[in-house]
Amino acid sequence: MNTLLDVKDLKTSFYTYAGEVKAVDGVSFQLDAGEALAIVGESGCGKSVTALSIMGLVQDPGKIVNGQICLNGRDLTLASNKELCGVRGNEIGMIFQDPLTSLNPVLSIEQQMIESLMLHQKLSKRQAITRGIELLKMVGIPAAEDRFYQYPHQFSGGMRQRVMIAMAMACGPKILIADEPTTALDVTIQAQILELMKGVRKSLNTAIVLITHDLGVVAGLCQRVLVMYAGKIVERAPIEDLYYRPKHPYTWGLLGALPRLDAEDNQKRKLTPIWGKPPDLLAPPPGCRFAPRCQYAMKICEREVPPDFEITPQHQAACWLLDPRAPKVEHFPEGSAAL
Ligand SMILES: Nc1ncnc2c1ncn2[C@@H]1O[C@H](COP(=O)(O)OP(=O)(O)O)[C@@H](O)[C@H]1O
Ligand SMILES: [Mg+2]
Repeated sequence: MNTLLDVKDLKTSFYTYAGEVKAVDGVSFQLDAGEALAIVGESGCGKSVTALSIMGLVQDPGKIVNGQICLNGRDLTLASNKELCGVRGNEIGMIFQDPLTSLNPVLSIEQQMIESLMLHQKLSKRQAITRGIELLKMVGIPAAEDRFYQYPHQFSGGMRQRVMIAMAMACGPKILIADEPTTALDVTIQAQILELMKGVRKSLNTAIVLITHDLGVVAGLCQRVLVMYAGKIVERAPIEDLYYRPKHPYTWGLLGALPRLDAEDNQKRKLTPIWGKPPDLLAPPPGCRFAPRCQYAMKICEREVPPDFEITPQHQAACWLLDPRAPKVEHFPEGSAAL
């Protein structure tokens, strides 16, 4: 597989009056062409800031303070604003949780779409209209020829998200970053949007980065998962390993909060949310950032940041329990969620 995107030791901070908020603190990962990767973690752990860093969209008082973001070998942290604008128009598409904030309410879909098609794809107006309608059809909008001329408020939430995907795909990007794309939608529509993204990936070989707080939505789409906690990746694994052989207590917690598809006793089984709150990123704990919430925390966890322990070449977790000197702790059996 060829690496499309290579993020190395990315650190992004916000310089607030209260101090430096280390929102992303040493994140590294690779994305292959055509691969679907999930980034999962509770709200506030740095998922969106990671995505915005890749897109070159981190706003003041935020700043990328370290690392490289290589797209096809080119480091985007060194790119000019103009180059980044080209990357956003042509190479990476992004969709957000709430399409209304990224769609302009006073412009019709036609006006919003043909502008970018003419600018980035260098199409004539007539060609842009034809292409725009084609894209709406591709994402499953009925009566696309009429809908093309309507305004965002005339679309339901699910349909708006389809429009956003059509727009993100307009320039034929190699990567689609979807930040909580289904969080605002109800469950059936959620499933349809995920199916749509799966179809896009299959037919166009677009790599996908799916960002979500909900481990339950990643299984059908993604092959690999990064679990993020307080600005760091704490576990990374192929999806089966993460569901059936998770190694980090934080991942156990995320899985424990999931209802199981195969469990007859879901009614009786308690869904256990993770106790406590993520740390303040202004002054994170000195050792493992999850230690204050971890029921297995040892002395060392409070003092030293755990390194990545390798379970297999594809599966790593940053937890002192994986050190050979640590006591053996088995993942509680209920946590293994069904795929
Ligand atoms: N503009 C900002 N100013 C200060 N802190 C910010 C700003 N934007 C994000 N942060 C902080 O960065 C951290 C990560 O945020 P974010 O990436 O949005 O989390 P997630 O997407 O995982 O919910 C949070 O702790 C948040 O408080
Ligand atoms: Mg977010």
